[in-house]
Amino acid sequence: MSNSPWHFPRTEFAERVMQSFISGGSTALTLFAPRRTGKTQFLVHDLAPAAEKRKCTVVYASFWQTADTPVATLTHAIEGAIKTPNFWRRTQNALTGLKPKIRIAPMGIGGEIDLSRVPKQDDQKDPLLTLDDMIGQLPANYEAPLVLMLDEVQGLAAPEHLAFVAALRTSLDKRRETVRTIFTGSSMDGLRAMFSNRQAPFFHFGSNIELPQLGEEFVRHVLAAHKAATTREVPFEPAMAFFTQVDRSPFIMRNVLERMALYPDDDFETAASKVRQELAERQGFPALWSGLNPLAQAVLVEIVQGEMSLTSKDARSRMADATGEEDVSPGRVSGAIRTLGRKHVIHKIDDSWTLQDPDFGRYISALIAPES
Ligand SMILES: Nc1ncnc2c1ncn2[C@@H]1O[C@H](COP(=O)(O)OP(=O)(O)OP(=O)(O)O)[C@@H](O)[C@H]1O
Ligand SMILES: [Mg+2]
Repeated sequence: MSNSPWHFPRTEFAERVMQSFISGGSTALTLFAPRRTGKTQFLVHDLAPAAEKRKCTVVYASFWQTADTPVATLTHAIEGAIKTPNFWRRTQNALTGLKPKIRIAPMGIGGEIDLSRVPKQDDQKDPLLTLDDMIGQLPANYEAPLVLMLDEVQGLAAPEHLAFVAALRTSLDKRRETVRTIFTGSSMDGLRAMFSNRQAPFFHFGSNIELPQLGEEFVRHVLAAHKAATTREVPFEPAMAFFTQVDRSPFIMRNVLERMALYPDDDFETAASKVRQELAERQGFPALWSGLNPLAQAVLVEIVQGEMSLTSKDARSRMADATGEEDVSPGRVSGAIRTLGRKHVIHKIDDSWTLQDPDFGRYISALIAPES
């Protein structure tokens, strides 16, 4: 559990996941939700402690834009897990249940250990095989499985990672009894590429679970933390209204309260509007927007306004108005859509195009909103 008074625990959800791992028969789950909705925070501060409470070994690895290869990322994560203080106790617990009994002790204390053979990166050996050995030697049994948390897995969908993903799939398949995996990420395209296409390496490998939306309780929790930290009170109603307006983004809410702590004279509304502006700058939205050609911008405006049929006559005629052209052909609209998809600005969910980052969508809405 996180010690930070700001962390709003998702205890019930963490318990639900652990139950489905331990008694519910799930070997793998996928948790995909938009950017900055609290996936990583949930894994690290709620799920990991819930798993550790059940004496599971936990490995967390994030594949977010790392310079390392995925195999090095996961190998380091496993080495990190081996170094955690409770590791040896768990190892003992997991192994004393095995037959024939193997007695083990940490390296250097004597005893008949065999985890000292958790292989080091051996230049001679294929790193994928070494990784497989490492996974196999982590303590795990049916009641206390190894919990692998693989975050930002959309990055693994790229063709150059095929060998890694295939090897990982084999490693996990071999150990369905004792290894539980949760895959998380924020891109629907990535999700499809990894799990839903018939040719995808993890096709039908795990079931999907939804991250429960945060609500009133979250807002009350962070307002109480703010009061404890600053002795100042923020009224609940406007804070809750704002939270709903920003699609319940815990990230934006935390930023507003952080700002209020720094600028005590600002009221909630002022802080909220400053934070939205600042975040747009920091996330590079103005540059991203102005880097797009007028047609791509017009397509985004249509998407943000909820137009489902982007190549329809009406939509194209609005795009022509917006770009100052006489006519916009369906082919050019499709081309603009492809470009936006390639740039990871939009993705398709349930057959309709959506902004990958809802914050960018809100930025565009604000741009096109009539001045009030
Ligand atoms: N349970 C929580 N309690 C308090 N604050 C939270 C909670 N969950 C998320 N937050 C806030 O939201 C921010 C974003 O959360 P997090 O990084 O976990 O999101 P994410 O879904 O992993 O995002 P990304 O898709 O960018 O990886 C955190 O830095 C924190 O400020
Ligand atoms: Mg994350």
